[in-house]
Amino acid sequence: MKSKKLWEGIYWVGAEDWDRRLFDSLIPLPDGTSYNAYLVQGREKTVLIDAVDPGQFDRLREHLQEFPRIDYLIANHLEQDHSGLIPYVLEKYPEARLLLTPSAVDLALSHLHLDDNRIQTVADGETLDLGGRTIRFIHFPWVHWPETMLSYLQEDRILFSCDLFGSHLTSTEFFLREDHLAWEPAKRYFAEIMMPFRKIIQKNLNKVESLELAYIAPSHGPIYSRPQFIIEAYKKWIADQPENLVVIAHVTMHGSTQKLVARLIKALAERNIQVQPFNLPVTDTGKLAMSLVDAATIVVASPTVLTGLHPLAAGAVFLVNALRPKALHAGFIGSYGWKSRALEQLKTMLDSVRFEFLSPVQIKGDPDEAALKLVDNLAEEILQKHRAAGLL
Ligand code: FEO
Repeated sequence: MKSKKLWEGIYWVGAEDWDRRLFDSLIPLPDGTSYNAYLVQGREKTVLIDAVDPGQFDRLREHLQEFPRIDYLIANHLEQDHSGLIPYVLEKYPEARLLLTPSAVDLALSHLHLDDNRIQTVADGETLDLGGRTIRFIHFPWVHWPETMLSYLQEDRILFSCDLFGSHLTSTEFFLREDHLAWEPAKRYFAEIMMPFRKIIQKNLNKVESLELAYIAPSHGPIYSRPQFIIEAYKKWIADQPENLVVIAHVTMHGSTQKLVARLIKALAERNIQVQPFNLPVTDTGKLAMSLVDAATIVVASPTVLTGLHPLAAGAVFLVNALRPKALHAGFIGSYGWKSRALEQLKTMLDSVRFEFLSPVQIKGDPDEAALKLVDNLAEEILQKHRAAGLL
């Protein structure tokens, strides 16, 4: 199959991965994904921006057959889904030099075992003249590895943004036709990959906003013809202010914890607080992560298993701690049989976040009306906290 000509002298030479359903053996991909690589021709020089996942060797090889010369290979990001075939590209084009940030050198050597004579580092703001076309390198660390950079094609006003602004969405449409189609895949991507780096994106986003932009071309998903759509979405997602939303991550064994959860949902809804409950045995982790982007309060509801959290609840707590969402408060409800250390375990696990802990509701056995009243009290406490934070 031929590469796709996007504009005069600019081609998509990446690969679609229609059937991939899991990334990192962890992240669900309901819409597959794409590994975008772009080839840009100037009058004198040709560059390839990113390679693709090593599993897509045949696709890249096919696409590059049309291009006898590549002078530079730009590695915006060294994670394997974009760098895995860099050794192949360097072998096919022995004259090509690999351009990357100084902090990418060690990763390139250790992950790809490259000859360091082929590597050339670029400074933040440095430009590369292709003849009639100029690429400016913009260091943008931690989106989501330390070495990441963006490449801006100045004359065409196209930003090649690597994982930043990406979405796990496979399509035969290279340009986003309707913005709303990308909202969920892009938010899912942000939630799973970028959320832990929210503060760093806040600090560096002005580097993108200061550019004249006609298009944003990320390394996953479609190209944004209206860059402001995804920039505004990111500004909302990285903002410090959460929404009047409670996420309840819950699991039950014999129904007691479920009764507490049902009462909490009802009590919160009566107080005009939005609730998104996730029944962990059947939860899409991506949906849970997306809700964490906005939530002001996270409640974990777990029975006690061998004195600790249910393993599914522990998994959700681990995810929350890793993603470091902007939530302000955390709560715990659950039933236990004879003894529980689940609450202590929960607090110990949440060592990367600074949530204010709400009054826990831990019930021995099946909850009676007095126990359910404690849940109502928790809902009232959440209401007061959300009011105090100006969320309703
Ligand atoms: Fe798409 Fe961080 O690699």
